[in-house]
Amino acid sequence: MASAPKVLILNGPNLNLLGEREPAVYGRTTLADIETAAVRHGKELGLAVECRQSNHEGEIVTWVQEARRSHAALIVNAGAYSHTSVAIRDALQAFGKPIIEVHLSNIFRREPFRHHSHVSEVAQGVICGLGAAGYRLALVALSELLETVKEA
Ligand code: DQA
Repeated sequence: MASAPKVLILNGPNLNLLGEREPAVYGRTTLADIETAAVRHGKELGLAVECRQSNHEGEIVTWVQEARRSHAALIVNAGAYSHTSVAIRDALQAFGKPIIEVHLSNIFRREPFRHHSHVSEVAQGVICGLGAAGYRLALVALSELLETVKEA
């Protein structure tokens, strides 16, 4: 049997504070809860999920670069860097395999500075406003996208 495609879930700055940070906006689910659920959902879908979080732009760039060799797809919530980081966008552009962008909140219902995301320009799809469920939906989308890649 072929080994499960590896999917890396990358969370950016301040997402380590989920559950404590602005619960009215981001909900009460912690990042640890999201990651545990993602690994379990990944298994159900035949995907090997790995999760990382960083508050540092350069570390995220390095992880995306490394993932070119090790992972079949990415799920990215770059937090505030989504709106500011050309470096993360360029690293994602060079990834060359499926990327799904996730935001817990609906960034389009929030302040105007959150309405543009550099990540969206290089992502296959974007899920926002559905809270922690967004990560599960991103995995479902990726399992279908990776099937299509396999069949092509
Ligand atoms: C976020 C939205 C960003 O605007 C914000 O800076 C975050 C979280 C979200 O998941 O809704 O840190 O990416």
